[in-house]
Amino acid sequence: MLIIGASGGVGTALVQLAKQFGAEVTGVTSTTNLDLVVSLGADRVIDYTKEHFTNSGKTYDIIADTVGETSFIRCKPALKPKGRLLAIAGGLPDMLAALWAPMTRGRRVIAGPADERPEDVRQLAELAKTGVLRPVIDRRYDFTQMAEAHAYVETRRKKGSVVVNVGHEG
Ligand SMILES: NC(=O)c1ccc[n+]([C@@H]2O[C@H](COP(=O)([O-])OP(=O)(O)OC[C@H]3O[C@@H](n4cnc5c(N)ncnc54)[C@H](OP(=O)(O)O)[C@@H]3O)[C@@H](O)[C@H]2O)c1
Repeated sequence: MLIIGASGGVGTALVQLAKQFGAEVTGVTSTTNLDLVVSLGADRVIDYTKEHFTNSGKTYDIIADTVGETSFIRCKPALKPKGRLLAIAGGLPDMLAALWAPMTRGRRVIAGPADERPEDVRQLAELAKTGVLRPVIDRRYDFTQMAEAHAYVETRRKKGSVVVNVGHEG
């Protein structure tokens, strides 16, 4: 599995979950975040400032794009014959390709809103409780700093997640 944006909020969780389910994981990130992605369990990392994942000739069963960096058309050559693009930050063309996917064989796109099933949330909670799934927290803000928190998130440079503390009265 190739995870584009492996150092972000979704990516840091995805690397850990993919490893937990037995995948061999390659994470794509920039130079400063390579160590973080390896520390989460990635088997290999690609520094996107030095190499594009489509240039290595390697192919993957799943490519998960958490940043909208690729598209089905562009990453098709890097997908195995029955490979899937998990377009987490996909645009309209990938959404349409996902609708069409059940009618096609071979490579497919998975896009659109995820099911929010209670059993999945319970499984994630269990993995967090047992320390298998480790949240990566970049910065913490007070509730009064909400605007700064949003501004930082919008830089698209955060590592893992940003926490906003909500005070409790009484
Ligand atoms: N986080 C959530 O809870 C959540 C929930 C629902 C939906 N979503 C959606 O899921 C998508 C991802 O959200 P996110 O919170 O994971 O994003 P994010 O944390 O803001 O993504 C930032 C990370 O992406 C990396 N990145 C930026 N450009 C990249 C590129 N070209 N190639 C590889 N890595 C790159 C950055 O690493 P570098 O600084 O090294 O470039 C940074 O660590 C968004 O569309 C968001 O709306 C997120």
